[in-house]
Amino acid sequence: MSLKCLCCFSKEKEQRHRRNVDDKKNIRDYPWERYTLKELLRATNNFHQDNKIGEGGFGSVYWGRTSKGVEIAVKRLKTMTAKAEMEFAVEVEVLGRVRHKNLLGLRGFYAGGEERLIVYDYMPNHSLLTHLHGQLASDCLLDWPKRMNITIGAAEGLEYLHHEANPHIIHRDIKASNVLLDTEFEAKVADFGFAKLIPEGVSHLTTRVKGTLGYLAPEYAMWGKVSESCDVYSFGILLLEIISAKKPIEKLPGGIKRDIVQWVTPYVQKGVFKHIADPKLKGNFDLEQLKSVIMIAMRCTDSSPDKRPSMEEVVEWLKDGVLKRKKDIPNLSNKGNEENDENYEEFVTMQSNNLKILSDNDGRKMR
Ligand SMILES: Nc1ncnc2c1ncn2[C@@H]1O[C@H](COP(=O)(O)OP(=O)(O)OP(=O)(O)O)[C@@H](O)[C@H]1O
Ligand SMILES: [Mg+2]
Repeated sequence: MSLKCLCCFSKEKEQRHRRNVDDKKNIRDYPWERYTLKELLRATNNFHQDNKIGEGGFGSVYWGRTSKGVEIAVKRLKTMTAKAEMEFAVEVEVLGRVRHKNLLGLRGFYAGGEERLIVYDYMPNHSLLTHLHGQLASDCLLDWPKRMNITIGAAEGLEYLHHEANPHIIHRDIKASNVLLDTEFEAKVADFGFAKLIPEGVSHLTTRVKGTLGYLAPEYAMWGKVSESCDVYSFGILLLEIISAKKPIEKLPGGIKRDIVQWVTPYVQKGVFKHIADPKLKGNFDLEQLKSVIMIAMRCTDSSPDKRPSMEEVVEWLKDGVLKRKKDIPNLSNKGNEENDENYEEFVTMQSNNLKILSDNDGRKMR
């Protein structure tokens, strides 16, 4: 798709299109805005270093405030190679199509000369990455109920991309920095720059590997096989990361790398789930919810893509494991966080079988 085509849309056409794709789940509806370069330069103080939020694979993100006083995040793509132009066009096209409460919507863009700028809502609570491993991690703003809510929200965003967006969308870069948090700590899945639109009836696309190390499904890392189940795998890694605040890949003394599934496996086999929880929670978590999330994560990270659940199933299981439980337990506390042999015995047996297959898998060793 060329950028020319995008520019040919009239504003009215865009709005009509947006109304058509809207559904009851969508909560906000603003049309694409064509920002002027002048406006975005003013908003970001000429892309001043102090305004810079961070840098990713495709460029830098800047905080800004428009003349109307609205806080925005502007992604400035690095270089305008033909490839980057394609990525830009893909992102704008994809974002233009999707609206969901758990997806970061596009506010607008600027395309002119060498500049390609994408404008998003600014997310005041940053990303999961900052809370789990970054500057905000020590404050532990992310208590257990927030973490559980984020897992469901992010899962619903991904479920929408996989099952409701038309055509279906594979994200391909699910990771902590791409899950942003709004004022209410609701998850907003961001960055569809990697996504490709999947035509109906095509189960997977073979393509070159993108994404981020540590989150890549083995079949994607090895053979570049892309399907929704690659996102499910990455989501499983993210689940483990959310509850443990461990990084997807850890460097052990001696330079050996260990991934989060390898780390969690012995605990699961021994049934000592509480050791998996982030120590910063100081025991303030619900053990049954923790077990449910771990069980779901282990299913998501099955080495065989066919055995992984769909995001529809993941959402259902998470809601079962988390929301029902929330009703049962009005107050979360570390009371009752005793391990219960009977409850997890069956689960452990099931997981041990899965894990045996996992540990035999070359894809894991590769990472
Ligand atoms: N709308 C936003 N509001 C607040 N922070 C944002 C927003 N968009 C991005 N960020 C943050 O800015 C930083 C850079 O984002 P960017 O997407 O460029 O890189 P990344 O997510 O680390 O990697 P990738 O390029 O693979 O997405 C990240 O920490 C991200 O969480
Ligand atoms: Mg990102």
